[in-house]
This record gives sequence, C-alpha cells and structure tokens, in this order.
Amino acid sequence: MQEQVSYEHLDEDGGNSLNEQMRWLHAQVRHHHPQVHRIAIALYDARHGLLKTYVNSSDVTDPLALYERPLSEVPSLAELASRHETRVIHDLTQLPAPHGEHTLWLLGRGYRSSYTVPLYQSGTLLGFLFFDSRKPGAFDGRLPEDLQIYVQLCRLSVLNVFNLSHAVEGMVKVARGLAHLRDIETGRHLDRMSSYVRLIAQRVARHYRLDDEFIEHLYLFSPLHDIGKVGIPDSILLKPGRLTDPERLQMQAHVDLGVKLIDEVMQEAGLVATPYLAILRNIVGGHHELLDGSGYPRGLRGDDIPMEARIVTIADIFDALTAERPYKRPWSNDEALAELGRMSTAGQLDAHCVSALASCIGEVSAIQRRFGLSG
Ligand SMILES: [Fe+2]
Ligand SMILES: [Fe+2]
Repeated sequence: MQEQVSYEHLDEDGGNSLNEQMRWLHAQVRHHHPQVHRIAIALYDARHGLLKTYVNSSDVTDPLALYERPLSEVPSLAELASRHETRVIHDLTQLPAPHGEHTLWLLGRGYRSSYTVPLYQSGTLLGFLFFDSRKPGAFDGRLPEDLQIYVQLCRLSVLNVFNLSHAVEGMVKVARGLAHLRDIETGRHLDRMSSYVRLIAQRVARHYRLDDEFIEHLYLFSPLHDIGKVGIPDSILLKPGRLTDPERLQMQAHVDLGVKLIDEVMQEAGLVATPYLAILRNIVGGHHELLDGSGYPRGLRGDDIPMEARIVTIADIFDALTAERPYKRPWSNDEALAELGRMSTAGQLDAHCVSALASCIGEVSAIQRRFGLSG
C-alpha cells in the first residue's frame, strides 16, 4: 500500500521565512531607532565567489532584487570582509564616483547613510548585513553599538539557512554519487536542469511574485527531484526496453519514496521546522504532475501544483529531450522548445515558464556548453 504524503503550499512570503524574520526584526529596530529605514542581507556563495541579494525589509515597494556580483568586483565589501571590519558611511552622496549598482540603487531611493557589517561563522564569511537611513549621518554616535543585538539575531537567522543548505548539499552529493554508480541521471543533467530552473524562475519572478530567497532555494533543491529513485530496484531503473504496467507503477513510486526520504533525513538532521523544507518537498513530490491532471502520482491540477514543481518539471523535461540517451538522439533546442510549447498549449505545462525558457535560449546554450551535453 502506498503511504499518504501531504503537500504544503507556502503562503506568499514562504511562512516563517528569512524575509518574514527580517521584517519582524526591522519593526523592532524601528521602534527604538526610527531612522533605520532599511535592513538587507546579501549572502556570500563561497563555492562560486558570488554575492547575492537575499532578503530585505524596507520602506520602498521595489526592493533591490536579483542582484548578483562576484565579491571580487565589489572591492569595498571584499576589503571589509578580509579585514573583518564594519563600515559607516555618513553621506552616500559624498562617495567618489563611479558608484556601484547597490549604491546607485540606494541613492535613487533617497537613502543617505549606511552601516555595513560582514557576518561570519567560525571565520567563514556568510554575507553582509546593511542598515540604511534616509538621514545623513544617522549612524554616527552610539547607534552601531545599539544595533549589535540585531546584528547577532540576523546572524543566527542566516546561519539557519546555511545549516539547511549544508544538509541539502550533503544529500545532493549522495544523489550525484548514486547517479554515477547506478546510471540514474548524470551530475551534468543535475547541473544543467538546476541552472534552467534558475533562469526560468528569475524571468517569471515578477509575474508570480517570487523573491530571491525562494529562487535560491529552488536552485539549491532542484537537483534532488529524483532522490527517490535510490529506492527503485536496478531491474526496473536500468531496464533497456519498455516497462510493463506494474513496473511503471513501481517506477512512479520514486516520487513518494523521495518525499519520505527527505522527511527522514531532515528529521535526523533536526531541520524539520525549517520553512524552506516545503519547497524541497513540493519539488520532489510534484515534479511529475501536469497542469491538466494527467501527471502522477496524484494527478494534481492547475494551482494545486506548487510553482516550484511546475518550474522543475519544465527544466527536467527540456534537459531530458535535449540530452542524448541510449534510446534516443539528442533533440535540438528548437525541437525541444516546440515540444514544451505543444505541452503548454495542451494545458499541461505553465505557459509563462515555457516562454521564459524560450526567451533566453542564449543563456541556455551557454549552460549547455558549460555542462557538456553528452549526458
Ligand atoms: Fe522523477
Ligand atoms: Fe531529472
């Protein structure tokens, strides 16, 4: 008998997400220090040397989002990070030109002074915390000292994200190792499909109101979509010919197996209460569902299929079509996009996400060159 697995839908802000925690913290700060108009965190991705905007709480309606730069290209922050120093800027308008993107954005929204704190865990850079004010000189005097308690609280919130990321990275490593041993799907398939996932998510972010935090988790989690295949016997997984009906049912069980596996691992790691876990469960549990209800295992329809699963499905199908498999030649990008277009017209795939992928075929080709297409 198949075990029942329930699916959670994230509310608009992802439940108790880091964004929500930041808004709460910002409200506390403003209560005592009304001149602090914005708090933002940029996370440092050590593996790629990238600085990424992540969460923020501010009094403007168009937050700086989807900003991504190598830390080496932002020398002022790179210097703070290496010296373990904080920085107060009394008047942003007095900074020598040329201004970086972040400074230009702040000046354009009327912010005048800032306080920047690099965040570390055991000497490793986690990211930067920014406090900004519309008042010049707002961070002169005692204020930076008074903000230390909030700095520590933000650091703890960020650490939570990192701990989950590390647990997931461990699982991705396991998934890759198994892929290699059992020929499930190659590591390069996982690299390509998760890169497509991010491309699509960034392009539909405005339309579906997806924030940076959601997109980063989607990118991080998507390589785990087929983790449940570790529980499928080789005789079915590696069978060269067509599967019989009972075999197909057994193969389809990889979805529920995957959700169960994730729940068990997260329970072990003490990470069950993490809000982002819903994104991971939804990806694993929903990546074979189709909008018209013809997918599996639940035959969910339309909005019952979470956004994260819809995006992963499209990236996964696109890569399966364009990659070479023992039983088929690789399709060209145009052929694969035409097939996705057909499936979206038939009401099976999200039309916005399919057009998003089609609109950045240059980047798609770059990803294919980077992570060779022979798998
Ligand atoms: Fe799958
Ligand atoms: Fe896949």
